[in-house]
Amino acid sequence: MPEETVSSLIQSITVRLGAAGIEDAGIDARFLVRSAFGWSAADQLGQLLDQPPSDQLDHLESLVARRTTREPLQYITGRAEFYRRQFIVNENVLIPRPETEQIVVQVLAFVREAGIDNPRIADICTGSGAIAISLALELPAAEVHATDISSAALTVAQQNTDALAAELDMYEGNLLEPLTGEFDVIVSNPPYILSGAMPSLQAEVSREPSLALDGGNDGLDVVRPLFEGIATMLKPTRSAAYVEIDPPVADDVLQLALDTFPQAGIALLTDLDGLTRCVSIEYA
Ligand SMILES: C[S@@+](CC[C@H](N)C(=O)[O-])C[C@H]1O[C@@H](n2cnc3c(N)ncnc32)[C@H](O)[C@@H]1O
Repeated sequence: MPEETVSSLIQSITVRLGAAGIEDAGIDARFLVRSAFGWSAADQLGQLLDQPPSDQLDHLESLVARRTTREPLQYITGRAEFYRRQFIVNENVLIPRPETEQIVVQVLAFVREAGIDNPRIADICTGSGAIAISLALELPAAEVHATDISSAALTVAQQNTDALAAELDMYEGNLLEPLTGEFDVIVSNPPYILSGAMPSLQAEVSREPSLALDGGNDGLDVVRPLFEGIATMLKPTRSAAYVEIDPPVADDVLQLALDTFPQAGIALLTDLDGLTRCVSIEYA
């Protein structure tokens, strides 16, 4: 029997992950090996023909076993990247998605163009805190508030706030209810998946909290009261709200926004994949 090398180990893990139905099995296998052995990509390349470190093999096996159950990589490693920074994640929070970074980009552009030096910003349904913390770090003069109904999610958001040395206030509660005063900017990535689509979610997505995903029968159970709250707490001039939406219900969200904010400029924004992903509500 030839001795096992890092290369042959990666190949055997790839086969196991592929058999579990994981699409990018080879990428995940290399990632899990690097993660278990504490290697960079360059370390891994340099040791492909060497024997793997025997004292780390049990740890690697536990990571691979978790991944074969379709647990998301980010929960296994406890980290997810969002807007250039690493965030702590666990099964109590949604894994922040690249398409949500668009909300951060929109807010930065709006605040710059409107010339607001010290914006008062609220992030509703903050989860891991990815949006709120990114904004607090990108806009150090801003006053950032964040809410979530899940205390377990807020624990993670607080860990991220501390780890990234951000300054913001967090509140447990329903949508905007814990907040007072008016805001220059309100953002949210609420739960918006149609309840009927929940049973057929990708295996990895179904491991994320249903409280973070399920938007009710028409996907708008949270969006409706969220819009009502925004209508009462968004300043009537030089202000903006950006809410992430589910592309299939974009027309319904657009109509709801037009009805709820008759004086505002309303637009649907597409993400980098060309999908309608965000509604913007802006007051001049
Ligand atoms: C789709 S996740 C978004 C997390 C994070 N903002 C992000 O983009 O990665 C939705 C979040 O909304 C929270 N949530 C659900 N219903 C809520 C409500 N009525 N009020 C406040 N937060 C709520 C969930 O706990 C979850 O953390």
